[in-house]
Amino acid sequence: MVIFKKISDLQNHLLKLRATGSRRVGFVPTMGALHAGHISLINRARANGDITVASIFVNPTQFNDRSDFDKYPSSIEDDISLLAEEGCDVLLLPSEEEVYPEGEQKMQSYGFGYLDGILEGAHRPGHFKGVGQVVARLLDIVNPDFVYVGQKDFQQCIVIRNLISLLGKENEISLTVCPTIREADGLAMSSRNRRLTEPQRALAGLIYQCLVSIQAKQMDSSFKIVQKECMDLLEEKGFLPEYVSLADAADLSLLEEYDKSKKMVALIAAKLGDVRLIDNMVIN
Ligand code: PAF
Repeated sequence: MVIFKKISDLQNHLLKLRATGSRRVGFVPTMGALHAGHISLINRARANGDITVASIFVNPTQFNDRSDFDKYPSSIEDDISLLAEEGCDVLLLPSEEEVYPEGEQKMQSYGFGYLDGILEGAHRPGHFKGVGQVVARLLDIVNPDFVYVGQKDFQQCIVIRNLISLLGKENEISLTVCPTIREADGLAMSSRNRRLTEPQRALAGLIYQCLVSIQAKQMDSSFKIVQKECMDLLEEKGFLPEYVSLADAADLSLLEEYDKSKKMVALIAAKLGDVRLIDNMVIN
């Protein structure tokens, strides 16, 4: 695996690689603290025959909460070893100055309309503005043919799909959303899980159980009732639930009730102590 800190060096390297054959570039953007979910994206890119490029950059502009940014887990040496072992070809490890050479304020930003004001957009003001900024910049740097992202960040997947359209790159870049990878108790793998204490970790699988019950009860219950049951249960067990919601999986328009004519997605965000967890499940 070749590691680049300078964007121009990465771009020269990719130009040479592209010139030597017809292989295409598959890109996995990350913020590091890698886990099996990230590795599944790398494997997907490799299985597709792409030159696999990963980036690790903890983007400050997408954190609405400074302490979340300060406490974001980092394990750069382990991440590098893992990526190399898994056959990633190229890693971009840029500094903030490389990504935002004229300062983050001067970067073009993008609006995602309705998505900015619901769920993650509502609870993390400015988050998707930051995600849009950094992903647009990374796409410009790497110029990939394929981008691989995890379904765990369901709303982010839709935002990135919309961003690719806003950039007019929908015919150049194919976005692949890969399934969420879970721990044995169902907890969705996330870099933030590392910050859970042992007792918190023992409780964290409850979010998945709530999603399973939202899925299971669609035939014989009202979503409003199941939603309240989940909120109450999470609170009772010591979570601070932010939302338990149901939406149309195609565009994330929120649903008040189960609508079996649509492919739906249930989404949950809840805090355990100061660790914020999100998860979702597509309901058929
Ligand atoms: O999902 C993430 O890790 C980040 O939001 C991303 C897409 C790498 C942008 O910083």
